[in-house]
Amino acid sequence: MQNLTFNFSGQVALVTGGAAGIGFKLTTSYLEAGSKVVVWDYSQEALNNAQKELSKYATQVTFQQVDVTQRTSVEAAIKALPQPIDILVNNAGITRDKSFGKMLDADWDAVIQTNLTGVYNVTKGLLEKFNPQTQNKRIITISSVVGIYGNFGQANYAATKAGVIGFTKTLAKELGRKGFAVNAIAPGFIKTAMTNAMPKEVLDAMAAKVPVQRLGEVDDIANACLFLSSQQAGYINGTVISVDGGIVL
Ligand SMILES: NC(=O)c1ccc[n+]([C@@H]2O[C@H](COP(=O)([O-])OP(=O)(O)OC[C@H]3O[C@@H](n4cnc5c(N)ncnc54)[C@H](O)[C@@H]3O)[C@@H](O)[C@H]2O)c1
Repeated sequence: MQNLTFNFSGQVALVTGGAAGIGFKLTTSYLEAGSKVVVWDYSQEALNNAQKELSKYATQVTFQQVDVTQRTSVEAAIKALPQPIDILVNNAGITRDKSFGKMLDADWDAVIQTNLTGVYNVTKGLLEKFNPQTQNKRIITISSVVGIYGNFGQANYAATKAGVIGFTKTLAKELGRKGFAVNAIAPGFIKTAMTNAMPKEVLDAMAAKVPVQRLGEVDDIANACLFLSSQQAGYINGTVISVDGGIVL
């Protein structure tokens, strides 16, 4: 896919969960667009792989091992931040799927702690670390279609992805006057390393349910995210952009 082109030179983007999956694509896309990027991820293995893959951007990218569920971890990383940031992408997220009757307290707690409290910990911690010189501050949180429409076996995940939409709309109201635009992206079913390992028939059947007849690519999410980060998108505030091929229609 030919990606949209953006120029973020002179800006700094921080991507949580930025070492793998959609987050890694976001990291790569911001780097390609000239931004400096701070990658926060709790997986040292993913960070090592990302660092290897992105060696040609070594002067532009900083990797920090951070667990977004742990305030002490977030605080320590913030203290070590090389410079103020312009763009925050709350992308780190997990699933622990089970039908509600079978869901364990631990499944509930882990998903809330990562996808909802993690977004709070990171955003709260970084609020005063945005570049005071710019009126183009951006906070983008990766929600999900599941947060809008629900999904069997994902009561915990859907609650968090709906929760971050309320969080986004509230911050959009509170922070708009301070030079922020705050938005969410709700991806549909996106192809990642995990889905690539699934049988082709299963993937084809899933694609057939999408009006545009294909699964989403990580590039689809990156294009939406970079657009929302751009100066030109500065009047888009407090919205949720669905990037799902129309699957929920
Ligand atoms: N893949 C999809 O189809 C899809 C659809 C809708 C929404 N999303 C959302 O997009 C985001 C990225 O999903 P993905 O499919 O790329 O997932 P992924 O599992 O491939 O990557 C998530 C990354 O986040 C990191 N991470 C997880 N918990 C963390 C923590 N506590 N602290 C720091 N880092 C942590 C992981 O190490 C990993 O690198 C998530 O928020 C997910 O809910 C994904």
